[in-house]
Amino acid sequence: MNNKKILNTEAQSLSNASRIKYFDLVIESGKGSTLTDINGKKYIDLLASASATNTGHSHPHVVEAITHQAQKIVQYTPAYFANEPAAKLSNRLTQLAPMDGPVKLAWGNSGSDANDALIKFARGYTGRPNVVSFTGAYHGSTYGSMSASAVSLNMSRKMGPLMDGFYKVPFPSPWYQRSYETKDQFIERMFDEFKLPFETYLPADEVAVILVEPIQGDGGIAKAPTKYLEKVYQFAHKHGILFAVDEVNQGMGRTGKWWSIQNFPGIKPDLMSVGKSLASGMPLSAVIGKQKIMDSLSAPANVYTTAGNPVTTAASLATLDVIEDEHLLQRSYDLGLKAKAFFDKMQQKYDFVGDVRMYGLDGGIDIINPENKKADSDIATKIIYRMFELGVVMITVRGNILRFQPPLVITNAELKQAFDVIKQAMQDEANGKIAFNAKIGWSAD
Ligand SMILES: Cc1ncc(COP(=O)(O)O)c(C=O)c1O
Repeated sequence: MNNKKILNTEAQSLSNASRIKYFDLVIESGKGSTLTDINGKKYIDLLASASATNTGHSHPHVVEAITHQAQKIVQYTPAYFANEPAAKLSNRLTQLAPMDGPVKLAWGNSGSDANDALIKFARGYTGRPNVVSFTGAYHGSTYGSMSASAVSLNMSRKMGPLMDGFYKVPFPSPWYQRSYETKDQFIERMFDEFKLPFETYLPADEVAVILVEPIQGDGGIAKAPTKYLEKVYQFAHKHGILFAVDEVNQGMGRTGKWWSIQNFPGIKPDLMSVGKSLASGMPLSAVIGKQKIMDSLSAPANVYTTAGNPVTTAASLATLDVIEDEHLLQRSYDLGLKAKAFFDKMQQKYDFVGDVRMYGLDGGIDIINPENKKADSDIATKIIYRMFELGVVMITVRGNILRFQPPLVITNAELKQAFDVIKQAMQDEANGKIAFNAKIGWSAD
């Protein structure tokens, strides 16, 4: 069976809600940064399973840990009895958390339920009902995490009402800075907009938590200005509001640090959610927080039958080993500099390449209309489609932003090969040689 045949078979039974359509690709296997499809064609992966396989596909140490643990016992619910990998991992993770004082955690199966848990603990500890999050945020697909999200109309359309007590403030994405504004003026204006709800209809002493992706992922790989986030952080503390970060997409070394919040010196969150690459893509997540917050609820306020399962936690222990032993934080940082230099060169060469943002191996490259400089999803789509034809997997976010998130183990040779393909695709676009014009990805609908 080839890619199309399998997709056709699946289409008879898979809901449209479950896949964001990009390419006709059925993945058969993966090793490091290379994927092989069902027809045997190889691709360099610049998506890392949506930043869920930072250690690369099927890393031997992770596979060995999974296999070894599966032979002992696959599952016994941590809701009732402990297992050794989860116990070890809880100690390791709480030590890694960028927080002061004693820290505890609770397990989940996905980034979405980790964010739900984060909201439960924040409400439980503060006794306050409301949650403030940001436009452009993707926090997940459960009702709680979806209620905190604001990045796609399809995440609320026809499913409301979403949960009560959720308020959105604008995320200071760089494209919102006006041409006549200095960076400081932009930050002031965005912070004024942040404060507006609190000054008009949302009493700060009724807000439990401010939840933010310090670097938004699906929102465009966009970093909040440091000064802006410091102001929000100080505001939170002044009003007894917990400050929480979503590290599901941007954590685990993605930005060249363990956690993306460590790109903001001096900010220490009260709570954080982690998932995706935590167990190299095995279904494991956690909410991590200050002990007094995490002790504010009692069982079974946040238990799941399979969360903290021995196989996933063994995979996570191995994942932490790989990140440390292979110096992947440094590697992410170093290769990120190379990637920035490459995309900056593309920006000089092609007038459809706009702003280039890169934080470790974590990039957002805006594709714009050369005439009016506005976001151009059609050009972005053509570029990724051509790259796909040439053997490189990359997707877009927000329609027009190239999402650059390869596994952190990508080799120099693979990176060079990927750059050659990107160059070729951009040149083909400049020459008007790409015929593709279907609507795919986040721009669809
Ligand atoms: C920042 C962020 N938070 C939460 C989630 C939800 O994670 P999951 O899909 O594992 O539920 C995602 C997924 O893309 C994410 O990017």
